[in-house]
This record gives sequence, C-alpha cells and structure tokens, in this order.
Amino acid sequence: MSDVDAIVADALAEFAAVHDPAALENVKARFLGRTGRITELLKGLGKLPLDQRRTAGGRINEAKASIEQALEARRAALRDADLERRLRAEAIDVTQPGRGAGNGGLHPITLVRARIEALLRSMGFDVADGPEIESDFYNFTALNMPANHPARSMHDTFYVEGGSHVLRTHTSPIQIHYMQSHRPPLRVLAPGRVYRSDSDATHSPMFHQVEGLWIDETVSFADLKGVTIELLQKFFERTDLAVRFRPSFFPFTEPSAEIDMSFGEGWLEIGGCGMVHPNVLEHGNVDSSRYQGFAFGMGVDRLAMLRYGVDDLRLFFQNDLRFLRQFA
Ligand code: DAH
Repeated sequence: MSDVDAIVADALAEFAAVHDPAALENVKARFLGRTGRITELLKGLGKLPLDQRRTAGGRINEAKASIEQALEARRAALRDADLERRLRAEAIDVTQPGRGAGNGGLHPITLVRARIEALLRSMGFDVADGPEIESDFYNFTALNMPANHPARSMHDTFYVEGGSHVLRTHTSPIQIHYMQSHRPPLRVLAPGRVYRSDSDATHSPMFHQVEGLWIDETVSFADLKGVTIELLQKFFERTDLAVRFRPSFFPFTEPSAEIDMSFGEGWLEIGGCGMVHPNVLEHGNVDSSRYQGFAFGMGVDRLAMLRYGVDDLRLFFQNDLRFLRQFA
C-alpha cells in the first residue's frame, strides 16, 4: 500500500473512532490542517522531479477528496445521532394524564402594595401610575435637583437614550406628572418599580416604592404625621406602633424628615417625607403662593420584609415557588 493510501485508511479509521463533533474536527486538522499529513505531502510535491509531479499530485488530490468526503459523511452521521438522541430524551408521552392545575397566588409585594393602596384610598387618596423610563427632567430637575446637584449621586442608576433618560430612581417624578394633569386640591398615592445600581441582601437593583402627595391650601406637617402614622399602624395592625420623624434633607421637600418606626429595641427607617418645596409645586404648575402640602415615599419591599419576617430582600425576586407558595 502506498503512503497516500495508508493516510486515507488512517483518516477513515480515525473518523470512525470519534463520537463527538469537536473531536472529529481535531482529527480533520491532523490530515487536512495547515500541518496535516495530506497538506505536508502537497508541500513536498515541489521537490519531486518534474515528470513525477503530475501523477503524484493527482493521487494526493484524489486522496484529499476521499478524506473530505468521508469527513462530511461522518459529520452528518454525528449530527443525525445527536438529533436522534435529543428526540428520544425529549419525547413527550401525549397519552399521559395532566398534572392538574394548581391554584396561583398573588406575589407578596403585590399583596403589600394592594394593602397600602386600600388603606390610603380609605383616606381619600387617588391611585396613579407613571413611566418607569423617565426623562432627566422628571426624575431630577423638576424635583429641585438640577444638573450636577450633589443629591443626584445617591441615585446612581441605569441611563438610557445616551443619558437624557433614566430608569426612574424613585416614584417622586409621579408627583410632577400628577400635578401637571390634575388641579389642586389633590391627594394621590403612586406605587411602582424603581431602579438603582445597588445589590446586596437589603438592596436590589429593582425595588418598589409608594409615593404619597397631598396638596391643598392648608395641609400641614401635622396632616403628614396623621396620615403616615395611621397608615403604618393600620398596615402592621398595631395601634401601639411608635413612629418617629427624624429631621433630614431632600431637595424636593422643606422641611424634610426620615420616617422611622419602632422595631425591637431600636428604630427602623421606612421612608422619607416633608413639605413639598415651592419649586416642585411650580414645576407641577401648582401656584405655590396659594397651595402647599406634603409628600412621602416609602419602600414597599422593606414593609413586606417587616410584615412577613423575611430577612433577605432577594427572595422576593427569585421566583422560587417554595418561597412564594407561603403567601398564596
Ligand atoms: N424619593 C425619595 C427617595 O427615593 C424618598 C422621598 C423622600 C419621597 C421625601 C418623598 C419625600 O416624597 O417627601 O430617596
């Protein structure tokens, strides 16, 4: 048997011995690759005397063609075998009875949001919605956070449209939309998803807030306290729940406070609030010389964790049925 025939025989034997496509391509390289056995033979042609070149070249090319043909056949065979295996593995027995439909249930975050909505509706609040992709104006500027305002740094988020829009960092922009589309006096609750670049056991890049807003001619900080304390005590079904208003700063309210509730030995921050800043009223087309009011924002996920005793926020978003079933 000549050299060339031996190479072809080797190639066919090796092709037949492999059973996966990647290995097959490696074998191919050993024969037809840049330093493969056939390629080396072709390179050697130049050294043969002129009269032998033509016949030798012809034989090598024939050998190459039969190796390529065998390769193609083996590739197809492996593909078919793979398809066959998958069809068998994924076969569905259509004659089997169904597993039965289980009852669904509302997600705990949905339950908590609905509960807050019901409580505030009972106090005369409307419920409104707003876009999750906000312009820079609604998310920041209209809320008294002009470009380069340092308060923006606490709202690092996901920018879209080259930075002119953001995934909203809070539900506060809904205040502006609502004021622009309704005449005062107005009372509204706005729940929704918000986004920040934050992630650990108590922070998720997507989370939920509810925003409250009450604007009228004489609404005061006392009304703010009345509404939020009532809301939290009803929410937790505890009339003895202590609520504390800790002086703080938000650009969109003046004065501003953090809302804390008693928890075990200490306090837990549950949201922010304050008297709506006149600039914010003006951005909402509300006459700030006639109207005033309060706003608050609370973390829905935090309220859900407290109400249900859940210690890792991420559990809410992993869609693990063992977790979710407990709320259905
Ligand atoms: N938007 C604030 C935040 O996400 C929370 C907040 C604070 C909302 C004070 C308000 C408010 O309406 O008055 O950090």
